[in-house]
Amino acid sequence: MTTKIAPSLLSADFARLAEEVARCEAGGADWLHVDVMDGRFVPNLTFGAKVIETVRRLTKLPLDVHLMVVEPESYFDDFTKAGATTMTIHAEAAPHLQRQLVRIRELGCKAGVALNPGTPLAMVEDVLADVDLLLVMTVNPGFGGQKFIPHSIDKIARARRMLDEARSGAALEVDGGINRDTIAAARKVGADTFVAGHAVFSAKDLAGEIAALRRLTMERA
Ligand code: DX5
Ligand code: ZN
Repeated sequence: MTTKIAPSLLSADFARLAEEVARCEAGGADWLHVDVMDGRFVPNLTFGAKVIETVRRLTKLPLDVHLMVVEPESYFDDFTKAGATTMTIHAEAAPHLQRQLVRIRELGCKAGVALNPGTPLAMVEDVLADVDLLLVMTVNPGFGGQKFIPHSIDKIARARRMLDEARSGAALEVDGGINRDTIAAARKVGADTFVAGHAVFSAKDLAGEIAALRRLTMERA
């Protein structure tokens, strides 16, 4: 599978959103990662359908929407209409996970499931057939610019094995603290899709940073 770089708009300058989106697109981003937080599942509040729809009008890139919210199903219709490509829900917030994933696919989106650092992979073992993307969080969600949790590497490796054993073609995404120091190790153990917020948007040369991150994912040991 080819690796993908997904800048997280959480770290973008929202006063210049159109320009930031254009910079990502011109800079070779594969997807744009959109972090929806409700102030309940995580202690922070960001944005919803209005911003997704705005970003949708600014780019043709796939929109990788990460729902850090309770009762995620109440947003599915609006986010689909707004132009989400993938909707990723947290296993911790989805008691009827299988039904919720099926619903996302029914709406025509790709279905993703995310796990917090403290949540075991076993939580998703029985829904892999319903999943297009598995997101292993490498920080506790809520804020950009946090430090990558080092023992996530072992979990990513186990997630890779679990997907391979299930013959799943799902993307294996990592999110949180991904930068030049951490991306190669995550790639080496099998992640293929890399969200990066702070690293991309704090760089002087955004395109150069995306290229550097991509190069590091290609140096497979
Ligand atoms: C964390 C979010 C991330 C965040 C990543 O709650 O889910 O997508 O934007 O930001 P960095 O790359 O700065 O850790
Ligand atoms: Zn995210």
